[in-house]
Amino acid sequence: LKGSTVFSGMQPTGVAHLGNYLGALRAWGQLSASTRQQFDNTIFSIVDMHALTVPPPPEKLREYKRTAAALIIASGVDPEKCILYVQSEVSGHAELCWILSCFSDFGYLNRMTQWKSKMNLTENSSVTDDAAVQNLRLGLFSYPVLQAADILLYKATHVPVGEDQIQHLELTRHIGKRFNSAYDTKVFPLPEVLLTRTPRVMSLRDPTKKMSKSDPAEQSRIMINDPPELIRYKIKRAITDGDKSVTYDPTNRPGVANLIDMVAGLQNRTPEGVAEDVKCFRGHAELKEFVADVITKELQSVRENFERLSRDSEYLDRLLRSGAERAGEIAQVTLKEVKTTVGI
Ligand code: ADP
Ligand code: NA
Repeated sequence: LKGSTVFSGMQPTGVAHLGNYLGALRAWGQLSASTRQQFDNTIFSIVDMHALTVPPPPEKLREYKRTAAALIIASGVDPEKCILYVQSEVSGHAELCWILSCFSDFGYLNRMTQWKSKMNLTENSSVTDDAAVQNLRLGLFSYPVLQAADILLYKATHVPVGEDQIQHLELTRHIGKRFNSAYDTKVFPLPEVLLTRTPRVMSLRDPTKKMSKSDPAEQSRIMINDPPELIRYKIKRAITDGDKSVTYDPTNRPGVANLIDMVAGLQNRTPEGVAEDVKCFRGHAELKEFVADVITKELQSVRENFERLSRDSEYLDRLLRSGAERAGEIAQVTLKEVKTTVGI
């Protein structure tokens, strides 16, 4: 690939909720629109091999790849102007991952926080703690190396990440540098962080926890394909507090603040600005009507596009197939260079 390349990956985990949309998907749409002027190539990967670190039922994983593609396009990514494909369909990811794992330090991976949070361990836990890591799988531990392979396989120059993923990109740079200096080459450009700041959406049932698909309470989250009546019903039942007034105070009034934050996020405004507009409301019922209206309106086209695309699996499959072909060609070039460099 010539020039600058943006690479981003997303796990196929099913239909998105409002948190996934505001926290990730929408940024992809915006990125694909804005990067065309700024960057030469944009590559979006549906990373199903990463999803295996906590193995979902196979039929779900199969279905979710198409769901992910539909979500990504519905959120504004133009599939004609980027490469959109499924990770496992390009074998270079696994091949490069093995080679890079031979350049990755255990000690460095030990400091990564993701495997610890997935294992419900504290941040200072260590792989040397036998009891804690009894059930730690190698794939979950080395996941950041596969992520490094994803990025370096396309010689990406820029990677959009949230705050929590910065350490993984640091590792990618570390591994790339390690490889380059071991063979005195410049095979891998060191990718730069494109820091994306996205709002955090909290649970409707407990505004001190983030909205999540793993929450057993379905009413805790707004799904991207919820019909308007269901959105209204869930928002009406959202936990707020006993104070009838409408003020923005995230610390003391997280429930009301979450409703205001959702509007601010969807309308690209500051929560303070939204709070100014709604402070005259006579209670939480009026606020909730307003919030439900905004969510319904702002998600309408995403919902309609998502539903339409979901019904057209032939189109999605065709798109992903051609994406995999293009990605595969780029990957082969890098892989050949890497294999020649290491002597295999
Ligand atoms: P979940 O918690 O529902 O399992 P994931 O962990 O699969 O979500 O996250 C997928 C993407 O969505 C990530 O980029 C994550 O940062 C974003 N995300 C998930 N939940 C939220 C939320 N409540 N608010 C903002 N962003 C979120
Ligand atoms: Na999660």
